[in-house]
Parts: sequence; structure tokens; C-alpha cells
Amino acid sequence: MKILVTGGAGFIGSHLVDALIERKHRIVIIDDLSLGRKENLNKRAKFYRLDIQSEKITAIFKQEKFDHVFHLAAQMNVRKSVADPIFDARVNIIGTLNLLECSQKYKIKKFIFISSGGAMYGDTKKIPTPESHPVNPVSPYGVSKYAIEKYLHYYQNEFGLDYTILRYANVYGPRQNPEGEAGVIAIFLSKLLNNKQSIINGDGKQTRDYIYVKDIVRATAMALNKKGKVFNVGTGKETDVVELFNGIVKSGGFKAKKRHGPAVRGEQRRSCLDCSKIKRQWGFRPKYNLAKGILETIQWFKHYELRDGVNRVISN
Ligand SMILES: NC(=O)c1ccc[n+]([C@@H]2O[C@H](COP(=O)([O-])OP(=O)(O)OC[C@H]3O[C@@H](n4cnc5c(N)ncnc54)[C@H](O)[C@@H]3O)[C@@H](O)[C@H]2O)c1
Repeated sequence: MKILVTGGAGFIGSHLVDALIERKHRIVIIDDLSLGRKENLNKRAKFYRLDIQSEKITAIFKQEKFDHVFHLAAQMNVRKSVADPIFDARVNIIGTLNLLECSQKYKIKKFIFISSGGAMYGDTKKIPTPESHPVNPVSPYGVSKYAIEKYLHYYQNEFGLDYTILRYANVYGPRQNPEGEAGVIAIFLSKLLNNKQSIINGDGKQTRDYIYVKDIVRATAMALNKKGKVFNVGTGKETDVVELFNGIVKSGGFKAKKRHGPAVRGEQRRSCLDCSKIKRQWGFRPKYNLAKGILETIQWFKHYELRDGVNRVISN
């Protein structure tokens, strides 16, 4: 099948491209390299360096005749979305509408949209949180993801465009950018490998549901052949930041002491996804526990460390 992966030079998108190419699909990537890296691009994929808001996208759809679209390109920095909600909406709403317009015009079989569980449910008393829980995004980033979930419903009703929404938990693994705000595991590893002090925000009792990138990619690729509209994808296990830090230090054999800094105002206290629906309907369950995933991630980070946007070998 011919598949478009937007954001295919990014952390998760590049792993997805690798997995789809292994499964013999023909892949086209659209990425503006604002955060993605050339080094992540699979040489067997065709690459267009382009903003998803570009008018040139229509001609690409016309020429390439995609069967499916995986849409991962996004402005995904929550703090940036708060500081500049217009930029966030341009990329995440207008950019995605550009892709949806092309998808309906050129009769894409299915549009697979990557949403976010944490951003969607906000702080909730129901942990782990199922898909049926009321949605309550508290940041412009969450609002823009939710807007697209609603647009997808509209495009299906109006034009018959099929779709699946995957609401990811916190994803970690090789190629994650430690300079972003999302990847706490990448941030700790980068600090530990550079002998810099890691800071834990507040008491470190904030919890998240951490899923390894290979597991998330396996679930995402399943969307090509499986039915259903909205699925959480995570592990259903809550881990707090102190546990996480201690686990990384132990697995990597680092000699480091934790230090606590001030709490981040408005930071979500707990987040964990109920993933029983995807297990029941698609038979998906993660293969990696946190210890195994962290070990693989440490091995990768020991060889590559991100500095000035370039993957740099730091040890052999
Ligand atoms: N990483 C997580 O824990 C997590 C959790 C929930 C949801 N998600 C979602 O998964 C997707 C991928 O996230 P990631 O962690 O791989 O992030 P990433 O930043 O590594 O990847 C995003 C990619 O999109 C590209 N991009 C950004 N703006 C673009 C634009 N206007 N036009 C074209 N390309 C553009 C970037 O260059 C980058 O390669 C995003 O949609 C994100 O919202 C990620």
C-alpha cells in the first residue's frame, strides 16, 4: 500500500516509517524538519520537506495517490501552545484541515490521527482513564487535538472519510528529543550522560503512563487493518517521576543524586490510560515493561546524544 506519514522525520513518525517499510509498504513522508531530523529519515521512503499548511500538499496527493494517511506532524509543546495558541492552531488545526481536505478529495481509504490521552482527559479522578471519560482539554494543544477529533467525525459524515484516532500515553525511546518538554526519560538520560544535575519538579509524585516507542508503533500500524474510531494506547500502569528517575539511575548504573526543584504551576498530577478497549478489540498489548524499554533507550542514548539538533556519537 502507498502510505503518507506526516512527521516521519520525528521521534515516533520515523519509527513508524521504519516499521511500515519492513512490512513492504511504500512510504512518503511530509515533514518540515522543524523538529524532526534528516538522520531519522528512512532512505527507502520518499521525502517532501514541507509544512503541512502548504498549498503544495494538494499536488502531492494528486501525484502520489495514497491509500492511507498517518498524521503525526504536530506542534506538540504544551507550553508553547499556551504562549502562542495561534501558532498552535495554525499547525495543528489548519495544517490538519489541509490534509483532511486533500484526503477527502483524493479518496483516501483511512486517515489515522495521532491524538493525546493526557492532553484530552486533563486531571481526572478516574485513573486509569477510559475513552468513554468526558474530554476536558486544559491547554490549547489539547483543544486543537480535540478539534481534529471532531472534524474527523464531520469528514466521515459528510464525505465518508474513514478514520481512526489513537490517543497516546507518554511515549519514550530512541530518537526522542531531550530538548523538548515531553520526554522526561530523554531529558533525564541526556543529563545523566552529560554528568549534569537532573531536577525533579516538585515532590516528583506526578504520575504518567509510559509506553515504549516500539509498542506504540506496533499498535499504530494495526490501525491499517483494524476497525474502530477512538482508542487509548498506553500500558495502563502509573509511574511517578521519583520511581522513574530511580529506575533509570539503577538500570544505567549511573552515580547520581536527585534534586527537587519548584513544582510547575498547573502541571497535571496524575495521568494513566485505561487500554482495555484496544486489547479487547485489536488484541494489542505492550510487549515492553518499563525496565526493558528503559534499558534499550539507555543503550541508544549512550551511543547518540543530541546536541545542537545533530545526532552525535558519544561512545562506542
Ligand atoms: N511523544 C509523546 O509522548 C506523544 C504523546 C501523545 C501524542 N503524541 C503525538 O505524536 C505525534 C508525534 O510526536 P513525536 O513525539 O514524535 O514528536 P516530534 O516532534 O519528534 O515529531 C513531530 C514531527 O512533526 C514535524 N512537524 C512539526 N510541525 C510541522 C509542520 N507544520 N509541517 C510539517 N511537519 C511538521 C516535526 O519536524 C517533527 O518531525 C504528535 O502528533 C504528538 O502530538 C506524542
